[in-house]
Amino acid sequence: MVTIVLGSQWGDEGKGKITDLLSQNAELCCRSAGGHNAGHTIVHDDITYDFHILPSGLVSPTCVNLIGAGTVVHLPSFFKELASLDGKGLNNTRERVFISDRAQICFDLHAVVDGLEEAGLGKRKVGTTGKGIGPCYSDKAARRGVRIGDILDEGVLESKLRSLEAGYRRRFGDLDYNVEDEIARFKEYRNLLKPHIVDQLSLIKKFEDKSASILVEGANALMLDIDYGTYPYVTSSCTGLGGAIQGVCLNPTAIKSIVGVVKAYCTRVGSGPFPTEQLNEIGERLQVAGREFGVTTGRKRRCGWLDMVLLKYSTRINHYTALNLTKLDILDDFDEIKVAVAYKLDGKELESFPASAEALENVEMVYETLPGWKSTTMGISKWEDLPTNAQKYVEYIERSIGGVPIKWIGTGPARSHMIDRN
Ligand code: GDP
Ligand code: IMO
Ligand code: MG
Repeated sequence: MVTIVLGSQWGDEGKGKITDLLSQNAELCCRSAGGHNAGHTIVHDDITYDFHILPSGLVSPTCVNLIGAGTVVHLPSFFKELASLDGKGLNNTRERVFISDRAQICFDLHAVVDGLEEAGLGKRKVGTTGKGIGPCYSDKAARRGVRIGDILDEGVLESKLRSLEAGYRRRFGDLDYNVEDEIARFKEYRNLLKPHIVDQLSLIKKFEDKSASILVEGANALMLDIDYGTYPYVTSSCTGLGGAIQGVCLNPTAIKSIVGVVKAYCTRVGSGPFPTEQLNEIGERLQVAGREFGVTTGRKRRCGWLDMVLLKYSTRINHYTALNLTKLDILDDFDEIKVAVAYKLDGKELESFPASAEALENVEMVYETLPGWKSTTMGISKWEDLPTNAQKYVEYIERSIGGVPIKWIGTGPARSHMIDRN
């Protein structure tokens, strides 16, 4: 039985929190795509965990974790995150985390190239996390990438990395990068990494054979998907349902639920169109109340109202069977709450979600206004305790999305700050 958790907007919806909750009953938790550009926060009592490349299922003491073939893995981050979990008292994490031998290696070289490519874009820069994700996936697609399994053969790794470096030097001239240093670091990683490298098919089969509960933790989010997101202002992987299946070779007939994580308003980090963005006092209030700072880069997140046009589009692509609405508590103080219900271009309502970033930048918004509830919902864990207008907001979203049930509602960052309507 497989459950897939996917971000429905531009990321940072709260995927880490619901993954943590669901992983308590899962035997295997997998990351299927992306790399350490992700930043997933989990709050337990007074401990906060920030996950980047490691799957959030590591917090659940018996859950095994897999970083799948569709990912790009930066090894210094992998080891640094494991060390940070040691410091937070999590047990046996090293025995519970595996990486597919087919996953790509995200080198420090890729981060250097990410910076150079962004600099070359001038005003049209993507605003990447600067972690090297785009260049690493580009190398993969160009069939010159280096995979985790290559680490086991010192000669292969060295020659492939040297040839990548030579290629980039031909393209950029001087690079602020020393290949000898990176090769030397890999001498250390080789033995440390060996016990973690697996053939993911064999690992997954063991879990499938015992009908285990398998969880996939999506990273990034649908509007950052390389095909369906706001291209070119996207990340470089398939962040939707297709990527989840491809990245960990799941049996699609075993999928039990696809949980879309929806923030009760919208945020975005980096550049690109954001139709409901509020470049005003409302946006600032959402940013401050929601503590909207990127977990990976510390950048302020751009903020705006919930966008039903986007959410319907996201639902069409990811086929959510249930939703987790998060951060409802952040809307507690608003007199009224707006929700985008249509886009217009040149005065005409659009029938479908535009593929072009230029069109999206120019759409006029049609909003509906709902009354706020002006009372605190922080920490509420029962549906009947929510103020009536907050219940109406939830039901409004369910209705307009075509009846996909909102099964969980986040009312605060902690594990217990959740209404479970299952
Ligand atoms: P992810 O990338 O989708 O896992 O989300 P992030 O961890 O980057 O950002 C979500 C932030 O909101 C984190 O700081 C969470 O602790 C916090 N959070 C998650 N759910 C809720 C909620 O329902 N209410 C509040 N106030 N904070 C939440
Ligand atoms: P989580 O998993 C928010 C954004 C970057 C940038 C664009 C491309 O925490 O939801 P990249 O470094 O991937 O090439 O950057 O994508 N981005 C995210 N924004 N949350 C994320 O992940 C993101 N991962 C990438 O800000 O705009
Ligand atoms: Mg995040």
